[in-house]
Amino acid sequence: MEVERVQSIAYLSKCMDTIPVEFIRAENEQPAITSVHGEVLEVPVVNIGGDGSEDEENVVRMVAEAASKWGLFQVVNHGIPDEVIENLQRVGKEFFELPQEEKEVYAKPLDSKSVEGYGTKLQKEVEGKKGWVDHLFHKIWPPSVINYQFWPKNPHSYRVANEEYAEKLQAVADKLFKLLSLGLGLEGHEMKEAVGGDDLIYLLKINYYPPCPRPDLALGVVAHTDMSTLTILVPNEVPGLQVFKDDHWYDVKYIPNALIVHIGDQIEILSNGKYKAVYHRSTVNKETTRMSWPVFLEPSPELEVGPHPKLVGDDNPPKYKTKKYKEYVYCKLNKLPQ
Ligand code: OGA
Ligand code: NI
Repeated sequence: MEVERVQSIAYLSKCMDTIPVEFIRAENEQPAITSVHGEVLEVPVVNIGGDGSEDEENVVRMVAEAASKWGLFQVVNHGIPDEVIENLQRVGKEFFELPQEEKEVYAKPLDSKSVEGYGTKLQKEVEGKKGWVDHLFHKIWPPSVINYQFWPKNPHSYRVANEEYAEKLQAVADKLFKLLSLGLGLEGHEMKEAVGGDDLIYLLKINYYPPCPRPDLALGVVAHTDMSTLTILVPNEVPGLQVFKDDHWYDVKYIPNALIVHIGDQIEILSNGKYKAVYHRSTVNKETTRMSWPVFLEPSPELEVGPHPKLVGDDNPPKYKTKKYKEYVYCKLNKLPQ
């Protein structure tokens, strides 16, 4: 039996005003009930251009404050050409619009231990509930870890568009690590070094959220923090990402060509809790397809991550265990204590 894709369910639900019961969230999760409406608070937007419009000290301060208070911020003037982002979006959209059987060629193998491939959900959810989303996962950097079998061959320009994005993204990631490192009072190079330097793995996920007849009752991706160090996300123009702050869910507004930076669990740990992994989720839309392209910057599985030695001491004991990234992932996926 093939796995049922949300895209097919959405197609069949098009003319209805109901959705299958497994997509209906418990009341304490339903977006219509739990989102803040018309709230003025907005996630921070930081210009990281370094073109003289902001001096670095100021940028460090803004990034550190955003990472401590929100765990999420948008960056503009990041140096990735608009065209590179548009191409990434275009080829991803074209892939998801292929006939179902063409996409299934890239389905995650049933016996696979990796997340790579086309699929419908990553984690088992409580009470068998489902998110209104399909996805494609594959690594995009470094070249030595790429499995091209999970990269669509159609459209033909898929590969080049993804390679160009991966190439440009590294400079942004390096800059973010530097700013975040300085914000903790470390040397600029110390944070990236602590998460594995150039061995960091860039894992791309494409989320595809088809139109949903009852966006008030369903969620796309349920509330979670990312396990990564940082996640750098490109959205399409359909809003849907929400972040949890001070007991409320806030919408993240769409800024064309901005990148959305999430602090993941590994940076919270490394900073000994100064930076907060952002608790976030995504909602879906009644009329239009939402898509997003997060890249999870992950340590290699064998790397040990813990609070940075320079950030702990007698009056500041470690708040987290030091452990191999693969062990962290295992515990999180199996809902075991860390
Ligand atoms: C995720 C995620 C949010 C979004 O896939 O981990 O949080 O905006 N996605 O699609
Ligand atoms: Ni996420």
